[in-house]
Amino acid sequence: MTEKNELKHIAIIMDGNGRWASKRGLPRSVGHKKGAEVVKEITKAVAEKGIKYLTLYAFSTENWQRSAEEVSFLMSLLRQYLKTDLQELKENQVRVRFIGERYMLDNDIQQMMRNLENETAHFDKLTVCIALSYGSRQEIIAATKKIAQSVKNGDILIEDIDINLFSAMLYTKDIPEPDLLIRTSGEKRLSNYLLWQLAYSELEFTDVYWPDFTPEELQRLIDNYNTRERRYGKV
Ligand code: FPP
Repeated sequence: MTEKNELKHIAIIMDGNGRWASKRGLPRSVGHKKGAEVVKEITKAVAEKGIKYLTLYAFSTENWQRSAEEVSFLMSLLRQYLKTDLQELKENQVRVRFIGERYMLDNDIQQMMRNLENETAHFDKLTVCIALSYGSRQEIIAATKKIAQSVKNGDILIEDIDINLFSAMLYTKDIPEPDLLIRTSGEKRLSNYLLWQLAYSELEFTDVYWPDFTPEELQRLIDNYNTRERRYGKV
């Protein structure tokens, strides 16, 4: 039996901002700036298609190791994005969520994140989930620690640990697993993104750098997805 390919959740690794800029002899920051504009455009396109969840990899735990200058630029872009672009999403009744190690971020950013989450919690048209200071292995370890603590406290038994319980301990606990993962820029890696959640997702890779990614290219990848047969390990 094949499952219906209903597309409820797209996850994206937005890669290639730096190379897009270098190819043009521009500083990497210009690529990130253009990348942030594309985030806005693609979010709109996803909403128009009636897809319910979009998860974007905006900053990984490993990205903290980039130059201080680049990290600081990305943080200023993030502040701007939280202040303006996400406010616009709010007006369009989009629910905004964040996943990742938020305590690593500056306090003012954390505060803006909390406000946006609270103010949009009741919207259910599209949920945009932004992975910030996110690492999937770190998320899995945090979940494991929570479970170990619950066993130690006597709240659950070892026998109670199953896939559902584990999923419920992750940052993504109330978000369905992605149906489709897209990575731009020609790289074919998961880079510590949603390792647990992508277990049965379909993967699509495109050579297009993120700043050049368009709603048309998104549709081409969705069309590919629609031709696939999802078996979830069954025959
Ligand atoms: C990958 O390009 C992209 C990032 C590390 C960050 C993603 C950020 C944006 C799309 C812009 C800002 C977004 C928000 C939500 C404010 P890269 O730098 O790894 O490119 P490279 O692999 O070509 O060097």
